[in-house]
Amino acid sequence: MNKAVKRVEQMTLAGAKERGARARATMARWSAQAAAAAFVLAALPAALQAADPPPVAYPQGWREWTHVKSMVIQPGHALFDAFGGIHHLYANKQALAGYRAGGKFADGSVIVFDLLEAKSADNTVQEGARKVLGVMVKDSRRYAATGGWGYEGFKGDSKTERAVGANAASACHACHQARKDNDHVFSAWRP
Ligand code: HEC
Repeated sequence: MNKAVKRVEQMTLAGAKERGARARATMARWSAQAAAAAFVLAALPAALQAADPPPVAYPQGWREWTHVKSMVIQPGHALFDAFGGIHHLYANKQALAGYRAGGKFADGSVIVFDLLEAKSADNTVQEGARKVLGVMVKDSRRYAATGGWGYEGFKGDSKTERAVGANAASACHACHQARKDNDHVFSAWRP
């Protein structure tokens, strides 16, 4: 066999061996990581493993808070099924300071999303019955898993009937995460 061809063959062979060794090393690293993760999970106390976030308390007195803004979501909007109607946003003192600071919310901030039916009558759009009271509560320790915010929805006028519960991460936070740059809050303060 021609010397040059032989050299190329040897090189490719060595290359293949080397690639194989690298792949095996990567696999070993991955399975070691997976094993370590499994070990850590197994070692976690049961209470920490429970995915349920701590419940968000009904925000007493929210109707006296500062009105931030309002919006009407009409039929045809992608979010109509979940959020169609008129909503008004309210902020407690801490949340108001957060809005004014340009989206930096301290623990204790609470924002309310008061969603009402929108009724058209006599060329007006009027408030109807309350559909849900959406709530965001900032507590960076309790709600660390969802960006420091606890999320809940209280059905209609109820202070106890919950619409979100353990689904906060997927039902609320997954979308609010898009505004991570603004501490997960979409709305802004209009002076
Ligand atoms: C598909 C996206 C989406 C989902 C899901 C969603 N939100 Fe929102 N949320 C918004 C948008 C957009 C606004 C801003 C509305 C405005 O400007 O009037 C908002 C505003 C809010 C506000 C006022 C603070 C802010 O971010 O402006 C609260 C409180 C709130 N949502 C609670 C909830 C809760 C509770 C859930 C889960 C049930 C939820 N949201 C699910 C998009 C979403």
